[in-house]
Amino acid sequence: MTKDKSASWAAYYDKLRDRPPRRTLLAALDAFGETPPDALALDLGCGDGRDVIEMLRRGWRVVAVDSEPAALARLQERPLPPDAALTPVLARLEEVPLPLGVRLVNSSFAMPLCEPDAFRALWDRIREGLPAGGRFSGQWYGPKDSWFGRPGMTFLGRDEALALLDGMHLEMFEEEEDDGVTPRGTAKHWHIFHIVARK
Ligand SMILES: C[S@@+](CC[C@H](N)C(=O)[O-])C[C@H]1O[C@@H](n2cnc3c(N)ncnc32)[C@H](O)[C@@H]1O
Repeated sequence: MTKDKSASWAAYYDKLRDRPPRRTLLAALDAFGETPPDALALDLGCGDGRDVIEMLRRGWRVVAVDSEPAALARLQERPLPPDAALTPVLARLEEVPLPLGVRLVNSSFAMPLCEPDAFRALWDRIREGLPAGGRFSGQWYGPKDSWFGRPGMTFLGRDEALALLDGMHLEMFEEEEDDGVTPRGTAKHWHIFHIVARK
């Protein structure tokens, strides 16, 4: 990570501090009903842990992956539920193996920060690694997003996204297009797919 990039992520974590868990994660957790015994989740690009805390609160064991040391430091400074089973992992999404027995892979606003070949390889690993009944929750970006064309990122058309999800049961597939601002205050056109998929 460059110093500039790390500083930029640190500003992002400050800005979004104390935000509630993402609704894609909540939908996935709710869809499991009772937390399964020995439930294990993987959060890819966990940031300072807005989703991780909710999974821990509901009794999931969580492997939380991020490439920014500041993200994992902030996550561990949060008040964690008693008996929280948290394994922070400093790694790039492109390289991290799927832990054995993982039932839920959550990646909120992080997978598109991989370049296309790595994104597809990561998605293949997720699909293969999840057991039947396991779920993926998270966001992918579409080509009408203002960031389209940025190096090192992946954008998928609706049909491409649906093709990657083919064979999974889509519990949420919502396409959002909206003018707004980034957490850092820059005007932006968002084109996002909000996804919850069950294998
Ligand atoms: C937009 S933030 C989202 C954080 C959190 N999931 C949320 O919903 O608030 C993206 C996170 O992914 C991490 N990240 C970006 N690229 C990554 C990569 N290639 N490998 C691991 N983490 C990465 C960043 O450090 C950052 O914490």
